[in-house]
Amino acid sequence: MSTLLEVTDLSVAYDTPNGPVTAVDHVNLAVAPGEFLGIVGESGCGKSTLLFAIAQLLRAPARTTGGSVVFRGQDMVTMSARALAPTRWRNLSVVMQSAMNALNPVARLSAQFADTMQAHGVRDKAAIRERSEQVLELVGIDRAHLASYPHQLSGGMRQRAMIAMALLFTPELVIMDEPTSALDVVAQRSLMLQIKELQQQLGFAVLFVTHDMSLVSHFSDRLMVMYAGEVVEFGSTRQVFDHPAHPYSQGLLDAFPSIRGERKALVGIPGTPPSLSALPPGCRFEPRCPVSFAECATTRPPLYDVDGVLSRCLLHDPAYSSHATTPTTSREGDDVDRT
Ligand SMILES: Nc1ncnc2c1ncn2[C@@H]1O[C@H](COP(=O)(O)OP(=O)(O)O)[C@@H](O)[C@H]1O
Ligand SMILES: [Mg+2]
Repeated sequence: MSTLLEVTDLSVAYDTPNGPVTAVDHVNLAVAPGEFLGIVGESGCGKSTLLFAIAQLLRAPARTTGGSVVFRGQDMVTMSARALAPTRWRNLSVVMQSAMNALNPVARLSAQFADTMQAHGVRDKAAIRERSEQVLELVGIDRAHLASYPHQLSGGMRQRAMIAMALLFTPELVIMDEPTSALDVVAQRSLMLQIKELQQQLGFAVLFVTHDMSLVSHFSDRLMVMYAGEVVEFGSTRQVFDHPAHPYSQGLLDAFPSIRGERKALVGIPGTPPSLSALPPGCRFEPRCPVSFAECATTRPPLYDVDGVLSRCLLHDPAYSSHATTPTTSREGDDVDRT
């Protein structure tokens, strides 16, 4: 597998009055060209911080405390802002959660697209116009809307316009932070389908963050599950979805049973993630885990390789395997439909 993005031992801390708080803790991941990687976890697990750290968009009080982010063979962590500027947008672009915050409310789309292109050295007005129309139509918005202001578009159209902007330079990697979460279920589904279609058509890789594991499971090649700043499970979507190897992944799947099913509360996992400044000494999920045993409270689990899937759970340690009382139910009945 060739690698487009390789994140090694990446850690990020927020400086607080009570000292630094680690929000991303030694994360490793690699993305191949054209691959769709889904990153899931509840709110507060460090997903946005991880994406910002990868895109080199962290601002104080956050800072990268260790590790590397090698994109197209270059470590972006040690690159100067000046050296980074051409890479961002051209090779790697970011779509944020809320287009309303990312788009300028008092500028027409045409002006915002032109600003982005001019900032990256495109001066020719006709070329800017042509490319702006192209990307807008790529995401299914009529070119006439280049003259529109953000508030004249629906929520779904604004998110599409953001994605159009991210595609101005046909990047190799598009990083998306919950781009559909402000939309209703129908608009969410249709935007996901469109993102997948564009990805297949244009061939870019996607790093897609969401708290809804079922939503992304229909589109991702691999899934990474984060809990309290750490990777707790990582593997092919099919395997993670059919046989979650970590009790937290199992709980997330139970929380969002199916894209067609009804939403339930997080039935499998009552409670909330721990505060990052007061982490449990053993497994971070232990206080909420339905299948924990005594050692879980004191032993920090490493990532175990379970048939090619990584899982941070002591149940996979041969020393404790007697505790495994088949806690996980198979989800083979649910289909992960792929387009
Ligand atoms: N400005 C901040 N100052 C201090 N801590 C922060 C700040 N922003 C986020 N954090 C910490 O980082 C954790 C992860 O946040 P975030 O990356 O936004 O999670 P997610 O995107 O998964 O919801 C939070 O739980 C919080 O402890
Ligand atoms: Mg977030």
